[in-house]
Amino acid sequence: MEIQEIMLKKFVEVFGDKENKELFFTPGRVNLIGEHIDYNGGFVFPCALSFGTYAICSKREDNIFRMYSMNFEKDGVVEFSTDKLVKADVWADYCKGIVDIFIKKGYEVKNGADILFFGNIPNGAGLSSSASLEVLMGTMVRDLNELDVDMVEIVKIGQMAENQFIGVSCGIMDQFAVGMGKEDQAILLDCNTLDYKYVPIKLEDVSIVIMNTNKRRGLADSKYNERRASCEAALKDLQDAGVEIKNICDLNMEEFDKVKHFIKSDEALVRVRHAVSENVRVLESVESLKANDIAKFGKLMNESHISLRDDYEVTGKELDSIVAAAWDAEGVIGARMTGAGFGGCAVSLVKNSSIDSFIKYVGERYTKETGLKADFYIANVGEGSRKLGDL
Ligand code: GLA
Repeated sequence: MEIQEIMLKKFVEVFGDKENKELFFTPGRVNLIGEHIDYNGGFVFPCALSFGTYAICSKREDNIFRMYSMNFEKDGVVEFSTDKLVKADVWADYCKGIVDIFIKKGYEVKNGADILFFGNIPNGAGLSSSASLEVLMGTMVRDLNELDVDMVEIVKIGQMAENQFIGVSCGIMDQFAVGMGKEDQAILLDCNTLDYKYVPIKLEDVSIVIMNTNKRRGLADSKYNERRASCEAALKDLQDAGVEIKNICDLNMEEFDKVKHFIKSDEALVRVRHAVSENVRVLESVESLKANDIAKFGKLMNESHISLRDDYEVTGKELDSIVAAAWDAEGVIGARMTGAGFGGCAVSLVKNSSIDSFIKYVGERYTKETGLKADFYIANVGEGSRKLGDL
């Protein structure tokens, strides 16, 4: 049975038969390069995936939302009205947060809905299952209430919901990638201005292989917030010393070397070194892709991982093990962790002719070193958030 049919059956079981049913979809994302610099005003280079989160949505005439996730069946139906939006530490908080921000921004959310969700992004694996849910909810709230809101605004609402309602100080990359993705294109996004460009990523003879360490990102949110706070403290040190920048990533490597002594903490200094060098790598990697120099792109991916491992310290034993195995495998062009880190996924570019042996080698070595079993996905680069149709 297709996903759609299974969901439809479940929808009727949970909410009864309704006439006005619509199907929506928002993908997950993988970031090719540009890690932990979206909140430092840097460039990132993510793309949307073909797997993601689906929802069947039926508009209600009142302001009540009733929602059910096939991924969290034990939570049953979660119900809330737009008058009372309180965090309850369940998956539906991401959806409540979206409604909350729409209202805080002055949009009129008159209509609720009965919604059934199903997602095929592994949770907590660094492929943006939460941003996918947020932007999906944003897309539905817009359509249900016929609000004049474009996708970039939905993306911003998604980030605000995560920052203010959920309490994770994430940047804008994930929501942007899952909202604005395009088939076979990666997005070069300037996180300072939100200017963006699509860059074709359909590679000849090479595939994007995602490697899931299956190590959950324990304590990731607090460590994430700590990294961000270090960068903010360093920015303040630099600004107080008279360095005229708005963001860490306004510096190039040479400028960083000249002003780094103003950064008071040694730890913050290496964090900033990562951010500045990573930003340079993103721009170089996009140039190398345009010049068809895929080997250079791969080398920059490897350097990105090393910087995230040694300077930003967000990798950990599992990610380091899987990436090191990938580096040694035949047919690899480059490999690095992707997303927030501390577990979750890594991404690699692999020659099509070597994919099977790559997966076998990396999988076996990773299990031997960590006792965990990895999963591998060949990424198809897909479209961003959208309505798929009426049911
Ligand atoms: C998480 C955040 C993003 C970004 C990445 C690291 O995915 O949600 O905003 O900071 O980590 O690059």
